[in-house]
Amino acid sequence: MNSRLDVPLESLTSRPSAQAHAFVPDNNSGRTFYLETFGCQMNDHDSEKVAGVLLQRGYRQVETPDAAGLVLYNTCSIREKAAHKVFSRLGLYREANEGKIIGVLGCVAQQEGEVIFERAPWVSLVCGSASYWQLPEMLVRLEAGERRVTGLDKDTDETFETEMTRRDHPFRAYITIIEGCDKACTYCVVPFTRGPERSRTSATVLEEARRLADAGYTEIQLLGQTVNSYRDPSPRRMSFSELLTAVAETPGIRRVRFTTSHPSDFGADIVQAIDAHPGICEHVHLPVQSGSTRVLQAMKRTYTREEYLERIAMIRGARRPISITSDIIVGFPGETEGDFADTLSLLDAAQYDSIFSFKYSPRPNTAAQHMAGAIPEEEQGRRLAIVQERQRQIQTTRNELLIGQTLEVLVDSQSRREGQWAGRTSSNRMVNFSSPSSGLLGQYHQVAVTGAGPNSVLGNHVL
Ligand code: 5AD
Ligand code: SF4
Repeated sequence: MNSRLDVPLESLTSRPSAQAHAFVPDNNSGRTFYLETFGCQMNDHDSEKVAGVLLQRGYRQVETPDAAGLVLYNTCSIREKAAHKVFSRLGLYREANEGKIIGVLGCVAQQEGEVIFERAPWVSLVCGSASYWQLPEMLVRLEAGERRVTGLDKDTDETFETEMTRRDHPFRAYITIIEGCDKACTYCVVPFTRGPERSRTSATVLEEARRLADAGYTEIQLLGQTVNSYRDPSPRRMSFSELLTAVAETPGIRRVRFTTSHPSDFGADIVQAIDAHPGICEHVHLPVQSGSTRVLQAMKRTYTREEYLERIAMIRGARRPISITSDIIVGFPGETEGDFADTLSLLDAAQYDSIFSFKYSPRPNTAAQHMAGAIPEEEQGRRLAIVQERQRQIQTTRNELLIGQTLEVLVDSQSRREGQWAGRTSSNRMVNFSSPSSGLLGQYHQVAVTGAGPNSVLGNHVL
């Protein structure tokens, strides 16, 4: 199983977009949509914006595909399994689609293109993320009865800006600051599915942060496939770390997070910004992928093991206790026992607070797709289990060090069991705690840590 040890950064399950905070437009058109999202936070946030566009056009969001006239799947193709999921969803409409308009959005749409119409002729819309800015026009064509509408151009300078975003979460909001990816990791489909890097202007980002603060959001997460490769296209030329600081200084914003950082673009200025501004969360997601320089070269990751570990040492040298998380791929073509041992020793050296770990999955168009030395699935599974067990021990030990400390959490859920709550620390650790108080959701509270497991800590509300 491709799995992870914690849930902070990416959810591998699919989820229908939440209804709780939906903007309900004044509409009597009876047009309804259902939107299901697969994959990463970029997709989650794209879906929030797609939903915003639809609501603005008078559509109403419904919770099941059965109830919808327009059914959209925002898809992920990072690994083969994720890509397969959408075809099994589309298969549901093979016999009858009851006049529904069915659309495929996101990475599978971009990757498969019009082939989707051949595999599933009942699909009417195929649109990749680089074309979302054209969605309003595509909707007009679908509403006029067109049944083969595509948005597959990805060599665009455009970013997806909408006046209205239907946000899934009441106090934590995403802002995409950079779309696409200019790196060329040999295993990865993202440069093909999301196109080249495009950064938004700092003024647009800061304006969005101000609007979110006015709307009551206190935590902002800046998103980008390589978020720290951000380059302000305006004459202001703000660096990523300056932008982070400016977002954190927005009145009303209490926390700003950012993900995902690429090690090669990770400079000391980011650590200095975190140290200087308590509002910038003490967490860096810095995927290493492999601990072997030889494999890193085959992956075209543009750094060596030693250079990566220098970045880690720099982050560990900060005044604040910055938590570091990572992504690991096991079983990349040609990965020897020795290379794999390097990944395990890197886990020991880096002391991550959490990782996502995956079996390598060959992807279309990528340079690694036909590389020699494929590792059998069973062996990949064995290596994955070893990585996960080693990391589990590291996390347990690290979390146990927190017992006795008092941590600030943003409370984001309430358990069914009375008096039990959960939230996240600035370091993105999950904290489950008990409290006799009510109405804590969305608030910041102090929790005294009394226990620790590999994926979360336990504690009591400090009243
Ligand atoms: N196979 C397995 N894992 C992959 N990732 C990206 N492409 C692949 C692939 N072909 C992982 C990387 C990346 C994370 C989002 O997904 O670890 O950082
Ligand atoms: Fe994929 Fe590499 Fe770009 Fe990340 S940096 S999105 S892994 S190509």
